[in-house]
Amino acid sequence: MAMVLVFALAACSSKSNSDGGKKNKKQELEIFSWWTGAGEEDGLKALLKLFGDKYPDIKVNNAAVAGGAGTNAKAVLASRMQGNDPPSTFQVHAGAELNASWVAAGKMEPLNDLYKEQGWDDKFPQSLIDMISKDGNIYSVPVDIHRGNVLWYNKKVFDDNGLQPPKTFDDFFKVAEALQSKGITPLALGDKEPWAATMIFENILVAKLGADDYKKLWTGEIPLDDAKVKESAEIFKKMMGYVNKDHSSRNWQDASQLVAKGEAAMNVMGDWAKGYFVNDLKLKLNQDFGYTTTPESQGMFMIISDTFGLPKGVDNVADVKKFLGLLGSVEGQDAFNPLKGSIPARVDADPSKYDDYGKATMEDFKSAQLAPSLAHGSAAPEGFLTKVNQAVNIFVTQKDVNAFISSLKNASGDLK
Ligand code: GAL
Repeated sequence: MAMVLVFALAACSSKSNSDGGKKNKKQELEIFSWWTGAGEEDGLKALLKLFGDKYPDIKVNNAAVAGGAGTNAKAVLASRMQGNDPPSTFQVHAGAELNASWVAAGKMEPLNDLYKEQGWDDKFPQSLIDMISKDGNIYSVPVDIHRGNVLWYNKKVFDDNGLQPPKTFDDFFKVAEALQSKGITPLALGDKEPWAATMIFENILVAKLGADDYKKLWTGEIPLDDAKVKESAEIFKKMMGYVNKDHSSRNWQDASQLVAKGEAAMNVMGDWAKGYFVNDLKLKLNQDFGYTTTPESQGMFMIISDTFGLPKGVDNVADVKKFLGLLGSVEGQDAFNPLKGSIPARVDADPSKYDDYGKATMEDFKSAQLAPSLAHGSAAPEGFLTKVNQAVNIFVTQKDVNAFISSLKNASGDLK
């Protein structure tokens, strides 16, 4: 199925390049991402507007491919990179998605000079620079930091039922029981694209193992059939007993809508959901909806950082560097992140541009233990993640813990 998609998409993209597109391609700045539509594109549009104002002579092609978490975009990108037809710059997560794929394959230019020119040496957290570096070279520019371990909830539903947002898994199941007995769906899920369910699982893993041991799962130091992984799978299974019946036909926005409308009480999603609640659904933070960290993950930060790099073989390098320069600037970050729901990657951005969630999250980031997201490609190579997503997808329906653990274990060969 996935292969068919890759070929179909590859066919599509080569068609559009064979009709004289090549010439244009040299002049255009082609910006490749998966930010289209509600909850995704507002930040990018603000950034592109700023870029257009500054560089009116550079023609920009917003080549975004729809599909949450890059479900389709990553396949299109892979076929283009293989065909030596890279976009001018593309969205890529800090961590394995950048390093284990494109940098390891020798497809990216180092950006150390750009960092020097822009005076960025101390402008991004070192922990993040480490995630975008290999062998002493820096390979991309981060535009944001998203947090993945957030539980969003409908305030009115909680207040009307005299409930408090859960801090522990015991609390979560008590709250879920109380809601279910009133006919309210406790947990909204939209796993039409399986990564949304994988996010729930990774947040349970980090809670049960702690950030250090969670990271050891992806280096092979802790096996995937460890007792804590099994315990996490049992919790995951129990949580799946409280989700909306139509979860497999919804995407993440559709699931967030259930919470927005009060048809479901809670949702586990990255903080792009806040961008969606506030900018698209016009809900008020801390009035219509509230947030807390996912159960037992207080003090930890599931990090997802969107970055952009410079592929090898691109003609308009100077233009790409202008775009990356803006994307990494305080001005660029403060235009993008308040709309996207994320916090700025820069340490010197202006907190007054951000809402209470943003301000609190910027503070949390400074002291929290960071854990790279598996579901969003930062923790482990793409081949492994694909298998985990498949295993999660089967598990959500079959709820067979042993079969799930053995699929995870079988996939661990792809960790190297
Ligand atoms: C993530 C990405 C976010 C957001 C989300 C939903 O992978 O980092 O910026 O777009 O997917 O599509």
